[in-house]
Amino acid sequence: MESKAWNWSIADKTPWREPSKEVVGIAYRWKSKGFKEVIDYGCGLGRHSLFLSQMGFHVKGFDLSPEAVEETKKSMKEAGQVGEFKLGDIKKAPFEDGCADAILSFHVISHTDSKGISEVVNELHRLLVPGGEFFVDLCAKGEGFATDPRRRIDENTLVSDEPGPEQGIPHFYASKEQMKDLFRDFEILNLERVRAYVLDGKISSRDHFYLLGRKK
Ligand SMILES: C[S@@+](CC[C@H](N)C(=O)[O-])C[C@H]1O[C@@H](n2cnc3c(N)ncnc32)[C@H](O)[C@@H]1O
Repeated sequence: MESKAWNWSIADKTPWREPSKEVVGIAYRWKSKGFKEVIDYGCGLGRHSLFLSQMGFHVKGFDLSPEAVEETKKSMKEAGQVGEFKLGDIKKAPFEDGCADAILSFHVISHTDSKGISEVVNELHRLLVPGGEFFVDLCAKGEGFATDPRRRIDENTLVSDEPGPEQGIPHFYASKEQMKDLFRDFEILNLERVRAYVLDGKISSRDHFYLLGRKK
């Protein structure tokens, strides 16, 4: 299925302006490992790009939404931070092979289908140096997946047709076994299923996987 950016012009941007606690912890890990080059893979409004840059990383990022890329550039500039931000698709990232010590992709890479997710995983592998790490999250298949009323475009992928910032955007769901298979070329450092997390100030009932991995 063709990729589609978030429609940020109708989104409530407030919850997407402060770095999430998961990313704060990961950033301290990467700092202690001496990583320097980080990609914010689907940077949105740039909350994590700015945070990572202020921590001393050199940050590159991209997003399919022109509005998101412009906002990221603007907030970086206003904060006196320097980075490289482009328009791009998670299935074909606009950066060269082996340019990243680490890749962060938070609430982004599930925005594809069963074919697209393999392309995304290949891109993570292509961009990282050996020993480089990534932290991503993906939608987790749960009991409700089989009866979810959203439009089903393949055995793992749902599309919401409800009006909103995610209208018409695919969401790929994985089981734990599928996660392990998808990321088989990486070393899995931590794979955890998160049953409830806070988003938009509400407790989300949709499970996610958080995955920290390393390129062998
Ligand atoms: C929920 S937001 C998360 C943004 C950011 N990572 C954060 O944590 O604030 C999802 C972002 O993924 C972007 N996105 C969706 N599909 C994409 C694709 N195929 N390629 C690149 N970006 C995409 C959207 O435009 C949106 O900015």
